[in-house]
Amino acid sequence: MQEEARRVGLVTGGVGDLGYASAKKMVEMGLDIVLMDIREDNQRVEALRERGARVLFLQADVSDRGAVQTALERVWAEFGRLDVCMCNAGISMNVPFLEYTVEEWNQHMDVNLNGYFHVTQEVAKRWVAAGDKGKIIFTGSWVQDVPYKLIAPYCVSKAGVWMLARCAALELAPYGITVNAIAPGIVEAGLTARELKDFPEFREEFMSLIPLGRIQQAEDVADVVGFLVSEASDYLTGTTITCDGGCVVGAASAPK
Ligand SMILES: NC(=O)c1ccc[n+]([C@@H]2O[C@H](COP(=O)([O-])OP(=O)(O)OC[C@H]3O[C@@H](n4cnc5c(N)ncnc54)[C@H](O)[C@@H]3O)[C@@H](O)[C@H]2O)c1
Repeated sequence: MQEEARRVGLVTGGVGDLGYASAKKMVEMGLDIVLMDIREDNQRVEALRERGARVLFLQADVSDRGAVQTALERVWAEFGRLDVCMCNAGISMNVPFLEYTVEEWNQHMDVNLNGYFHVTQEVAKRWVAAGDKGKIIFTGSWVQDVPYKLIAPYCVSKAGVWMLARCAALELAPYGITVNAIAPGIVEAGLTARELKDFPEFREEFMSLIPLGRIQQAEDVADVVGFLVSEASDYLTGTTITCDGGCVVGAASAPK
């Protein structure tokens, strides 16, 4: 009997904390993996290989359309297919609104929003040309809905990601391509872990915003990604799964 071909999942920002946890979940689900990131982390690549997956690491800047195209050519050359594409690479900084420079603003849009557009459109073009279906997953954020101080361009880029998910879902649905977003809350990982290191005084405020009473872990996010990768999510498109321990409702009910 011929062995069924393994599905392949691509994760941008794949050696970052949420990207890596999500890729690990995909490996547990039997997928081979492409990690696309602007920086290398051989330890993480090897750790996934040790779990039995074929892993391809591609160094690419998602804000550079040409670099994304070159990287995707490698994906098809190596695997001949792609089944799941998770746009996840992101940046953030903490700066008062009056002090953001135009460069910093544009950098957020280039990576957090335009990067998702480049990867989604290039992947979808290839799927449509080949008659393949696929699942696109965006890492959004609870602040796509909730304005938050010091991270204005981040909030705006994530609001854009949420609209991009819905617009792309609408136009790609006839091809059997789904686009959904996951909106994590305050995760003790990656961007927020660094923020907490720089501004330890933020912890108390963050905790007061989380109705479930514990800070989120990367694995909490990866569990929801696992659902979006699985067949159980086949009838979902154009939606966000907010998995934030209740931050959105917590912020809405906070005393003013
Ligand atoms: N940590 C949180 O609390 C939190 C909450 C909600 C949403 N998110 C989102 O999760 C995603 C992952 O963030 P994280 O917390 O794991 O941070 P992280 O810094 O650990 O991961 C981000 C990764 O993106 C990569 N990256 C940055 N710019 C890139 C570029 N131009 N091209 C390719 N790769 C690039 C980085 O090298 C890094 O590996 C982001 O989209 C972030 O907005 C994080």
